[in-house]
Order: sequence, then structure tokens, then C-alpha cells
Amino acid sequence: MSTTILGIESSCDETAAAVCKDGKIINNIIATQSIHESYGGVVPELASRAHQKNLIPVINEALVAADIKMSDLDAIAYTQGPGLLGALLVGSSFAKTAAMALGIPIIPINHMQAHVLAHFIEDPMPEFPFLCLTVSGGHTQIVRVNSHLDMSIIGQSKDDAVGEAFDKCAKLLGVGYPGGPKIDQLAKTGDAKRFTFPHSDIPDLDYSFSGIKTAFMYFLRDGMKKNDQFINENINDLAASLQGTLIDMLFVKLKLAAKREKIKNIAIAGGVSANSGLRNRLLSDADKYGWKVFIPKFEYCTDNAAMIATAGYYHLKAGKTGTLRDSPQPRMSF
Ligand code: KG4
Ligand code: ZN
Repeated sequence: MSTTILGIESSCDETAAAVCKDGKIINNIIATQSIHESYGGVVPELASRAHQKNLIPVINEALVAADIKMSDLDAIAYTQGPGLLGALLVGSSFAKTAAMALGIPIIPINHMQAHVLAHFIEDPMPEFPFLCLTVSGGHTQIVRVNSHLDMSIIGQSKDDAVGEAFDKCAKLLGVGYPGGPKIDQLAKTGDAKRFTFPHSDIPDLDYSFSGIKTAFMYFLRDGMKKNDQFINENINDLAASLQGTLIDMLFVKLKLAAKREKIKNIAIAGGVSANSGLRNRLLSDADKYGWKVFIPKFEYCTDNAAMIATAGYYHLKAGKTGTLRDSPQPRMSF
């Protein structure tokens, strides 16, 4: 039997919709909310309003591009959490209303699991079991993935996410929001060995990224005291050294996890997996440790609805659907 699923993503500052037919993504529509740039970070209330404004046009665009009508849908998958409550409410309210009107199943999806399942949008797909380093603006996780729906977090950040460290340090450098892509760009022509920043000392497979942000702040302050052009004159080396430290911190634990779990299939996912330094490091470590690595296309790293629709497909196939009583879960884990 053929299945057509609409996926909806509204957990943070991207309003997105995608149509998936029999596990194949037909389109992936995203409306990015540029309003947050002038505030230097996502403003939750403005995000909810922008979702409210953009959601129906984005869904309509996805349906038109797939040449289908709402009545052709067999199920609707939406992001249940984690994310901003007001933002999640917009997507989930639409999903529940539409599913009720159409009399079709509704599928609540965990956004972080969907980042992992973005690897199943297109070939090459990872073989099970694999480890996925899921790195975003809100989370940093090492996930052991046994099957599409059986996965567990074996290590994670105890405080800030690595994306948050990128964004906050970018703000200290005065390069604007979102900071990750800006640091990535600046780092391309910088010397990553020029400055050193301390690694956090956290046991097992967990991470901490709040210390580096503070260390970076004091480092910049001291530099500026001696030379008020310190940041301007050294911005590329500062970005490259910071990025290098963050990547080193990520890979120390990833390497440990691969050894401990005896797994050589290694994937990356989430917004920070778009970072060119991180992608290159994964490729060079693959050679060094004999890993088979999986790197998503750029469009499937950052928030999108193709990953939500794909996650919906695997849930529906397993008979795992939700109810109209499900509510958004801002701090959802798995
Ligand atoms: O997965 P995502 O789009 O949204 C969340 O679920 O949080 O991730 C957003 C995060 C932001 O912190 C952003 O700065 C970071 O991903 N990011 C990057 C790059 N592109 C996006 N960080 C480093 N380098 C990049 N090229
Ligand atoms: Zn995300």
C-alpha cells in the first residue's frame, strides 16, 4: 500500500514542511526566520508569530510542489519536542486539527531522533548499529543507533550545546547571529594552532561547553586591554582556534565511544554537522581509525521537515502513531 506523509517542523526558528511518498522525500520547503538576526539570537515570542504566519503557506507550497491535495495524505508527522513551547504549539495544533479533519493518523516525532534519521532520506544510508554525533543549537549527543526506532543517548552535554558555544563566542567576536556558519567561514583562512583554549574535564562520554565560552570571553577581554584592535586584527585565527578546540572536544569523546561500543560506522547530524572543519575532521579520522563515515547533505543538517517526514515514515511502518491528546514536550528526551 502506498503512503503519503506530510512532515511539519516548527521547533525553533525554521518553519518547514515536506512530503514523503513511500519513504522517498518529494520536496523540502523551509522558511527561515531572519527576524532573529537583529536580536542576536532566537526570540521565542517572535518565533511563534513567524511560525503562525509562515506555516500554512509553507505547507501549501509543499503540497503544490508534490502535486497533491490535503485529502491525498495518509498521515501527518510533526515535531513534538524538544524545542520552544510556543513554536511547537503552532506546528502541533495544525497537525492535530488537520489529522482530525481528514481522519488520518498523527505521528509525534522527537526532533533529535529525526536529525539522526535524516541519514535515511537518501543513499548512502548507514548500516546498523552506528554511532551518531548529533550536534545542534540546543543539544550535543552521542547516540547509539540499533535500528530506525531503537536508539539511545550514550553521552551528552551537561550544560551548553556545542552550537550554543559557537553562537555565543561569535557574539563575543561581534560577527552576528547565527554564529556557527560565520565562525566556519572566518576559520577557513585562520590558523587553528595560533591560540589555545582549555578543554573541559568531564568523565565518560559526556560533554561540557560552558567553560570554553567563559575562557574565550576572558581571553578576548585581556587581548583587547593590550590592543583595542585585537579582535579585528586576529579574527580569522581566533575563529579557527576556537573552532579547532570545539571540534577536538567533540572528537575525543566520539573516539572513546567508538572504542567502547566497538562500532566503526560513524555518522554526524544536526546544524553543527554543516561545519566544514568538523566534516573534514570526520573524514581524516575515518582514515586514521578505519571508520566508515556518513555525512548528511547540507540541507539535511540544519532544521528541516524532510527528516520529520522520514521519521514519520518509519514510525508509521512500525504502527507507532500518536493521539490527538499528545501535547508538545519542550524538554523531550529519548
Ligand atoms: O539543528 P539546528 O539547525 O537547530 C537546532 O535544532 O538547534 O542547529 C542550529 C545550530 C546553531 O547553533 C548554528 O550556529 C549551528 O547549528 N550551525 C553551525 C553551522 N551551521 C549551523 N555551526 C558551525 N558551523 C556551521 N557551518
Ligand atoms: Zn535541530
